[in-house]
Amino acid sequence: MSFKGILTQEVKNAFEKAGYDKEYGNVSVSNRPDLCMYQCNGCMPLAKIYKKKPLDIASEIAEILKESKTFKKVEACPPGFLNMDVSDEFLCEFINKMKKSDDLLLDKPEKAKTIVIDYGGANVAKSLHVGHLRSAIIGESVKRLFKALGHKVIGDVHLGDWGLQMGMVIAGIIEQFGLENLMTKEDREKYITISVLEKTYPEKSAQAKADPTVMEECKRLTFELQKGEGIYFDIWETVLAVSIKDLKKNYSRLLVDFDLWKGESDVRDIIPVMIEDLKKKGLAREDEGCLVVDITEETDNPPLPPLILLKSDGAVLYDTTDLATIVMRNEDFDPDLIVYVVDNRQGTHFKQLFRAARKTEIAKDKTELFFAGFGTMNGKDGKPYKTREGGVMRLEDLINTLEEEAYNRVKDAISGDVDDAEMKEIARRVGIGALKFADLSNHRSKDYVFDIDKFCSFEGKTGPYIQYSAVRAASIINKAQDSAEGEILPSEGDVQTELFLLLTDHQTALENAAADFAPNAVAEYAYKLASALNKYYHEYKVLVEEDEEKRKSRLSTLELALRVLNKMMGILAIEIPERM
Ligand code: ARG
Repeated sequence: MSFKGILTQEVKNAFEKAGYDKEYGNVSVSNRPDLCMYQCNGCMPLAKIYKKKPLDIASEIAEILKESKTFKKVEACPPGFLNMDVSDEFLCEFINKMKKSDDLLLDKPEKAKTIVIDYGGANVAKSLHVGHLRSAIIGESVKRLFKALGHKVIGDVHLGDWGLQMGMVIAGIIEQFGLENLMTKEDREKYITISVLEKTYPEKSAQAKADPTVMEECKRLTFELQKGEGIYFDIWETVLAVSIKDLKKNYSRLLVDFDLWKGESDVRDIIPVMIEDLKKKGLAREDEGCLVVDITEETDNPPLPPLILLKSDGAVLYDTTDLATIVMRNEDFDPDLIVYVVDNRQGTHFKQLFRAARKTEIAKDKTELFFAGFGTMNGKDGKPYKTREGGVMRLEDLINTLEEEAYNRVKDAISGDVDDAEMKEIARRVGIGALKFADLSNHRSKDYVFDIDKFCSFEGKTGPYIQYSAVRAASIINKAQDSAEGEILPSEGDVQTELFLLLTDHQTALENAAADFAPNAVAEYAYKLASALNKYYHEYKVLVEEDEEKRKSRLSTLELALRVLNKMMGILAIEIPERM
């Protein structure tokens, strides 16, 4: 059980013993650490029920708790708070238990949930840009977070591979190579390369914007493709394969890894069945040639536009594939929860989607749907981040820029001889860690400003600072000749107590992050822990300490703190370098 859980149980027992409803005995970490370590605020609501003064109830409970060995101080404070400090021995006993436990004494969920996380959302044949960065980084972390909490989690990249952009790419490829040269698989594989794809989409999409006949042709090809067979479909298959290979490379640089590589196209056989069913049930109706589902409710002001299933030309849309994807996920996983990690600007689409999914009962009652929207990464001008020339920044270029910046900084900072290959590997971890931490330390829904100097700094609330603290702790452990498994001793002083209390509270950080699908709570905790760890190894020397028990206790503490820190950084999907 978590430390806070144990304290809560003890306080609840005291409530019961005094004759009160024990459900009011919840304990939380104090929001006034200068006054006490933990607090319970349950006496205030209880006082109303029992028609007593809250302070009198708090005093009664305090009297009972004073007998307990768990606490060294229990105070009833006006108007009716219970302020508590745990005893050094009890705290240290827990730390030693945590040290011996493989899972760091993390509570298991009463019932594990099956959760699908829809993130990444790359579009086939278009390069990844910074807009896709946040989805990948936040989604990966949300996935790892729920896994760490003991749930069954499936991450799905949900590729954009079935919309108009595919018609454009197919049109562009045919234009370049001629349809007659694309008839065999070998030919297609010869001509359709990633560099071809990279230039085809922007060119064709610009042409289509300028010229309605080109646009018509692209739409026609999209419609032809959506029949799911024939030469256009064959071309599409090659485009998909080439694109996925490249996407995998880019995502793996970010340590982002999907369980499923499904896309919009995977529901192509489900769509006609779904549409027939909705028509039969009277849930879909014709509207100016389109097929729509009405979803607005009386209280909506302004009314919510209907969800469009089919366009007048019969092509399916983003709405259609997203609704059918819920059908598919039901069949495949019967999930308790589907989380969409997508740009805030798609908020209305998801509102419509969720409404339609409920109204049509495509989403089961038990399946929660959650839109984890995120803000934009802006430039210093407050507008979405662009290249110096004003174009959309490709993700690959952004990653390269960070690795270069980190390389220069690491080269200046590192002592001892490190060969260039190792230096590059360190720079890779530091550069990507810097970017990810900067992103994840903001609440996902907020915008933030891209500031490479700040991100890469070794000081302050940054990825490199945390990485550095971890590397230092690891190097002390490595240099020490002793085992890092010794008994941890209590009462070294305040800096130790501060670290211990933080170590006992990692569960809260994970729970807070999970409650709002917001890994910034984990990032914040990791930063606090790194700072406490930093203070700890400055305050208590390990290598030069002559008292063997103390030396071993400190070493053991460092090892535990590092283990917790590594776990948190693992949830953020940030690697720690070997040295720094
Ligand atoms: N491909 C979409 C885009 O680039 C994101 C997909 C998000 N997921 C979803 N189920 N709609 O905007």
